[in-house]
Amino acid sequence: MGIPYLFHVAFFLDISLAYSILMNSNQNSFLRDTWYYALPSQQLRAGKTLTKVLLNEPILFGRDRQGKAFAIQDICPHRAVPLSEGRFAGDEIECCYHGWRFDTSGRCTEIPCLVPEQNIDISRFRVKSYPVSESQGNIWIYFYSGINRPEIPQFPAPKVPLFGTETYQAHTTMIFPCEFDQAVVGLMDPAHVPFVHRAWWWRADPTLAEEVKVFDPSEYGFTMRRHKLEQTTLVYQLAGDDPEVEISFRLPGVRVEQVITKQHKICNLTAITPISEDATEVTTLFYTTLPWLRFVKPILIPLTRTFLNQDRQMVIKQKTRLGYDPQMMLIKDADTQARWYFQLKKEFELSIAENRPFVNPVQSQTLRWRS
Ligand code: FES
Ligand SMILES: [Fe+2]
Repeated sequence: MGIPYLFHVAFFLDISLAYSILMNSNQNSFLRDTWYYALPSQQLRAGKTLTKVLLNEPILFGRDRQGKAFAIQDICPHRAVPLSEGRFAGDEIECCYHGWRFDTSGRCTEIPCLVPEQNIDISRFRVKSYPVSESQGNIWIYFYSGINRPEIPQFPAPKVPLFGTETYQAHTTMIFPCEFDQAVVGLMDPAHVPFVHRAWWWRADPTLAEEVKVFDPSEYGFTMRRHKLEQTTLVYQLAGDDPEVEISFRLPGVRVEQVITKQHKICNLTAITPISEDATEVTTLFYTTLPWLRFVKPILIPLTRTFLNQDRQMVIKQKTRLGYDPQMMLIKDADTQARWYFQLKKEFELSIAENRPFVNPVQSQTLRWRS
């Protein structure tokens, strides 16, 4: 499917300290053959369905009476009425227009208008279905390229480390009215923090300091090696002694920040999923061993939303100029992670197109910047 590119890397310069990647802003492509965050498990109750658009496709999520989640395209293959307008009964979806029925794998099981002599194999009428994976309180969906659903996705859905099968304690979601790549690049952009996220509860001191961080390649992405957390935020200060942090990114847009203190562990998962070329869903979840987290949730969630909204306001401002097709830059070293992101994406697409294993283009490296 030809979904246009947002960032077309048109030109690349490497001149001593600064390199520029000049990006054309009017093209986009959503990575396929990979997992995207779909929704929190708790939003999908047994025997119920829920519809949402992801990657420009209307998807009907459902949970059968045995508790198994499924996802099929929310378009009736007969005459395109949304299946979400019909009924979900007896673990089958009935279209509201002519009553065709489909099982949870998308296979047609009944066409009411057929008379007995009209002996056609209705099972060949199918709604497109998608692999889903449910763990740790999350439902992930696998978007594949081509028409045939893969028997088994080529790798498992992302997992939050350190928390086994446990679920999250706090969660929030926000829609960013921007292209996917812009939202992802914002996740790994250290230079904006002192300018955008200035707040007494996050970072009161506006003075910039030099940061030196070591990065290593990791599964479909890269990881900022574990180190002592120097600037601790309020939540982390309350979490215990000697906090250490490790931050990883993996395709398509998943960031995991682990903070470990002598007493506790906290993981923050941020997952980004495209809705369309102009809208992106950002979900952030907290996994912790802090027994008091549920008591501070009424404060934590609004603060997290304030924080996310600061990023959101920036992409809204940026969006007002992207229509003029500006060329944009990625500079050393502050934007190196963003540059890795585009390299990872390109290599991922190439490895799929050439039907070969993915070779991580990131090399272990120390990056320095002021923030
Ligand atoms: S449009 Fe769905 S059954 Fe006809
Ligand atoms: Fe930010």
